[in-house]
This record gives sequence, C-alpha cells and structure tokens, in this order.
Amino acid sequence: MSGESHLWSGRFAGAPDEEVFRFQASFGFDRRLFEDDVEGSLAWAEALADAGVLSAADAGSIRDALIAIRERGRDDPAFIAGSDEDVHAFVERQLVERLGDVGRRLHTGRSRNEQVSLDLRLYLRRRLPLLQRDVVGLVAALADRAAAAGQAIMPAYTHLRRAQPILVAHFLLAHAAAFRRDHDRLEAARGEADAMPLGSGAVAGTSYAVDTAALASRLGFSRVVANSVDAAADRDFVASMLHACALTMVHVSRLAEDLILFSGEEFGYFELDDRVATGSSLMPQKKNPDPLELVRGKSGRVIGHLAGWLTTMKGLPSGYNKDLQEDKEAVFDAEDQVRGSLRATVAVVESMEARPRRSEGAAGGMLLATDVADWLVDRGVPFRRAHEIVGGIVRDLLAQGRDFESLTPEEWRGYDARFGAGGGARVTSRASVGARRTPQSTSPEAVASALAAVRAWVGEQGDR
Ligand code: ARG
Repeated sequence: MSGESHLWSGRFAGAPDEEVFRFQASFGFDRRLFEDDVEGSLAWAEALADAGVLSAADAGSIRDALIAIRERGRDDPAFIAGSDEDVHAFVERQLVERLGDVGRRLHTGRSRNEQVSLDLRLYLRRRLPLLQRDVVGLVAALADRAAAAGQAIMPAYTHLRRAQPILVAHFLLAHAAAFRRDHDRLEAARGEADAMPLGSGAVAGTSYAVDTAALASRLGFSRVVANSVDAAADRDFVASMLHACALTMVHVSRLAEDLILFSGEEFGYFELDDRVATGSSLMPQKKNPDPLELVRGKSGRVIGHLAGWLTTMKGLPSGYNKDLQEDKEAVFDAEDQVRGSLRATVAVVESMEARPRRSEGAAGGMLLATDVADWLVDRGVPFRRAHEIVGGIVRDLLAQGRDFESLTPEEWRGYDARFGAGGGARVTSRASVGARRTPQSTSPEAVASALAAVRAWVGEQGDR
C-alpha cells in the first residue's frame, strides 16, 4: 500500500506494519455498521451543502454515489470487504473510487471519532427493538403456558426446599415479570443512544457552520450531544445496552435452571418436547435439556461483556481513545447471544407440557403448615404461639410419616383446644392457594388478572 492508501497516510513516511495494521483494524466486525455509516454520510453531505461548504452539485454526486454504494452492499454482502482499516475507511474509499476529488470533500469538518459514535447509536436504535421483540415473544409464550396451566398447583420453593403451594401459572408469570423489566431496560438503553454526536469533530467541535439540530432531526434523533469532548468518549449507552443484555441473560438463565430442575426425574413438573431435547451417545434412556443448559452457560459470556466493557472504559483519559473500538464486538456478541438464547427458550417453553398430577402431589403435606398456623391465628392465637404449636405437630407427623390430613379431631384438639370440636382446619393445597388475598399473590383471582394484564401488555407491544 502506498500514497493515499490509508485515511491518514500523508503524515507517514512509509507503509504501516502489516501485522500491526491488521491487529488494530476493525473492518472485520464493524462492517455490521455499513448501513449506518452510509446513512450518516448522506446526512453529513446534506449538512455540508446547507452550510455552503459543498456545492449543490458535489453534494448531489456524493448522495448518488453513496446510494449506489449502499445498493451494492445490500445486493451483495460480500462487497463489504477489503483491507480497509474500518467501515468508515471502506465507504470513503468506495466514494473516492467513484468520484475522485469530489468524494474527497465529504470528510470536511468530520472525524471518525464522531462517525463511529453516530454509527453505533444508529445501529442500536434499529437493533434494540428487535431484541425487545424477542423478549415480548418469550413473555407471550410464558403467558400462553400460564393460561394452559389453568388451576394446576405446584410447590413454590425457598432455599430450594418446598415452601408453599402456588399455581403453576403464578410460577410462569413470575418469570414473565422479570422479562418485562428487561424490556424496559432495553428501552432505556435505546433512549441513551438517542443523541446525535455529529458536529463534535475529533474532540473540539467543527469550524463549519453545520446545523446540528437539523442533522439530528434528519437522522431521527431527539437531541444533540451536549459536549464534544464528552461525545468523543461517551459509550455509556453501550454500557447500558450491555447491562440490559446481561440482566436479560441472568433472567433467561434462571428460567432455564428452573426448567432443567423441574423437568428432571426428581421433580417431573414439566415434560420437555423431544424437539428441544437431546440424547446421550452412550446412555439410551437420557433426554437432556441441552438448549437450556447452553442458555445458562451463555449468560456468563454476556455478563463478561458488561464487566469487560466497564473495565475498558474506566481508565480512559478524556477524548477519543482507540480502546473504545472494543465496544463493538461486545455489543454485537451480546446481541447475538441474547437473541439466540431468547429464541431457543421460546421454543422450549412453547412446547413443554405441564404434569399437574406430579406437581400437585408435591405441593401438599408439610407445605400447608403455614396455613394451619394461620387457621389458629384466626381463632385469636398470637402468630408466634401458633408457629410453635404447628412446629410441634410437624415434628410428630414427620416422625410418624403422616400428614395433616390424617389427624383426627381428637388429635388436633390434643395439640391445642382452640382447634375446636371439628378438629383441625380443612388444610389442602387448593384452600391454601385460595386463601391468599393480595394482588401479587397466587390466589386464582389475582393470577387471572395478572395474566390478563400481561396479555394486554403483549398486545400493546405488537401494536407499537
Ligand atoms: N474503528 C474505530 C473505532 O471503532 C473508529 C474510530 C477511529 N478513530 C481514530 N482516531 N482512530 O473506534
């Protein structure tokens, strides 16, 4: 390579070291920003013309050439390749190849430092809604399974020990609630990316009178960045995107873990469809939840992107530094992993079957101890006393291998006279679930209205 072969060759006596040049080049991955780079350049050409820096004729030629370049790239993705340093250099080389000196005018007053920020902001603005759509897809699948589960009951756990009976629908909607927060977080990340950086120049601003407000509205941004030095280095929107992705992966990983456990032989509350399970090369009986395990595994990698990116940012001096180039691989891989994980999980959730006899069978017995205590509280016993009395009953029942339902009225009264003539409470898991009173509880009415609210939300997202 010689002469003008790089965007910055003029100052240098010789060609760069090949290996080092390849090491610091980003075109291998930032080619994903091709569309955004062209869009930004189209707007910049227009702004330069409006500012009287480019003639209308030159601006028109640049526009036509950029559109032709974009068409080439759309028709043939293999076109977006070459030994260029990055996507910005590639687009400019294409322009100069077509227009010569006219093409060389486009970079007037502009820096790649603001260009790369603009491109990534544009990219996230168009890609985050696709991630959000996959989140909605998973919430919808969970809501469908919740509706199908009807009044089926399962144990809820604390410390992974059986705690209290809940509706299976309540369990599924618990996961949906977390994914709705992820949707909000992705929206907020998109809001952070929504600031237009052009006009910042390399770091100090530009000396051409470009109308940045017009540029912002031309490019669909709601605001312009506040400070050119900050704009060169600000990747907070990347950190927010990675945080939203990391937390989405934490949630999808926790759902995966629940489903791995609950579809196993020891629990058996759900059955995974054969289409989303895998066999063993050795053990003929095995049906393994590989996709769910991989989702759980990938969460580590996406959390790593967030931790890695924060670490990259933390020591940077003001203004642009090449370290910032590391943002893109983190963003692209986080996006790919979150989308892949969400879609695989939707396939698992959509096709799994509830096993209500198994789950209800596990939701009786000692899980009803709190309900027995509540029953005593109803009869005026202070809760701490009731807790102690019922704890004594549980100890005896466990020793004898019995449960509450087997106690005779005399035995109930033997523990405490306040259990009354009829003996103990009619303690069943269904009565326990039905006794809940708060809107966030597992009572069938509360769960029905929660399900309706989730479905209404899913419907609203579809309409957006
Ligand atoms: N490829 C670079 C990046 O991703 C673009 C900006 C380069 N600017 C520079 N002054 N080297 O950050």
